[in-house]
Amino acid sequence: MWFMRQAGRSLPEYRAARGDGSILDAIRRPELAAELTLQPVRRYGVDAAILFSDIVVPVAAVGFGVEVEQGRGPVVERPFRHRADLARLRPLGPEADTGYVLEAVRLATRELDPLGIPLIGFAGAPFTVASYLVEGGPSRVYARTKALMHGDPALWSQLLDALADMALASLRSQVLAGASAVQLFDSWAGALSPADYERSVLPATSKVFAGLADLGVPRIHFGVGTGELLALMAGAGAEVVGVDWRVPLDEARRRVGPGHALQGNLDPTTCLAPWDVVEAQTRDVLERGGGTGHVFNLGHGVLPETDPDVLARIVELVHETSPAHASTRR
Ligand code: CP3
Repeated sequence: MWFMRQAGRSLPEYRAARGDGSILDAIRRPELAAELTLQPVRRYGVDAAILFSDIVVPVAAVGFGVEVEQGRGPVVERPFRHRADLARLRPLGPEADTGYVLEAVRLATRELDPLGIPLIGFAGAPFTVASYLVEGGPSRVYARTKALMHGDPALWSQLLDALADMALASLRSQVLAGASAVQLFDSWAGALSPADYERSVLPATSKVFAGLADLGVPRIHFGVGTGELLALMAGAGAEVVGVDWRVPLDEARRRVGPGHALQGNLDPTTCLAPWDVVEAQTRDVLERGGGTGHVFNLGHGVLPETDPDVLARIVELVHETSPAHASTRR
């Protein structure tokens, strides 16, 4: 078990270590990024660390002009609008462009490996990163993104292909630097119909997973609001499919089919409820998860207002209840 967005925001030690300033600047400091990666492991006793970085790091690193505004998210000074904008997405050279990420991976795994705790590397999936580049910032309806997807399918597929190559290069470099699993965040794929997802997004996403196959690390594929896409997502090539809280895990298992593990799916807002509610819902998730082939997590990221002690109690409860943990207890 681990928590998406376990690093940051809700932890006082995060705010103390990170200070003000752009999160991208914090990510460019490997010692700080490694420390922020380790904080939640120390605090919560989770079974995995997630690298402290962001999904826009590769596009920012090749100079597309991306910042992350606190309380808002990624913003792009000159959004992707025309064919000429493809030239602003040159291929990522992971060591030259994002050496600081790889150094953070090395520093974090130096601490984690002796504890037997895996580090999860990650990247943004082509659709979700494209949505920021095309919209110029966070969006609710993805109107411009879908307009490009439908209006110029050839340019759209070149954009997604370029972003798939960047995600793949980044993920491969993180694994070679020491990460022992990877998660591809397609957070906003749930905005799409199954037909549009299958035609216009799945090929690029599948390319990322196929390009990782030879590394032999577990691959996790996550999105929000993807209940109607779960069967398609399961075909993209990952071993693990992430599920948000809208679909119970027993139903998700039917949709995903055999041969995959599931990850999820406690509603993050539940962590703000009284403990008896948290406990009941955590037990329900565990029961529906079925004991094996289930990575316990929230259905999306930890909310900033979450009490860290509640997360620590959830970890304890999951570990007490989990047969997998009992047999591998350190
Ligand atoms: O524990 C972790 O997960 C930390 C590493 C991490 C961050 N971003 C750090 C971060 C990860 C895995 C991400 C992924 C990410 N970034 C996603 C996919 C995950 C998801 O939640 O769906 C997305 C969509 C982004 C883009 C992004 N970056 C957003 C929407 C925001 C939120 C803006 C805000 O302030 O609420 C960010 C900023 C960000 N990335 C923060 C953190 C800890 C919070 C702001 C900060 O500390 O400056």
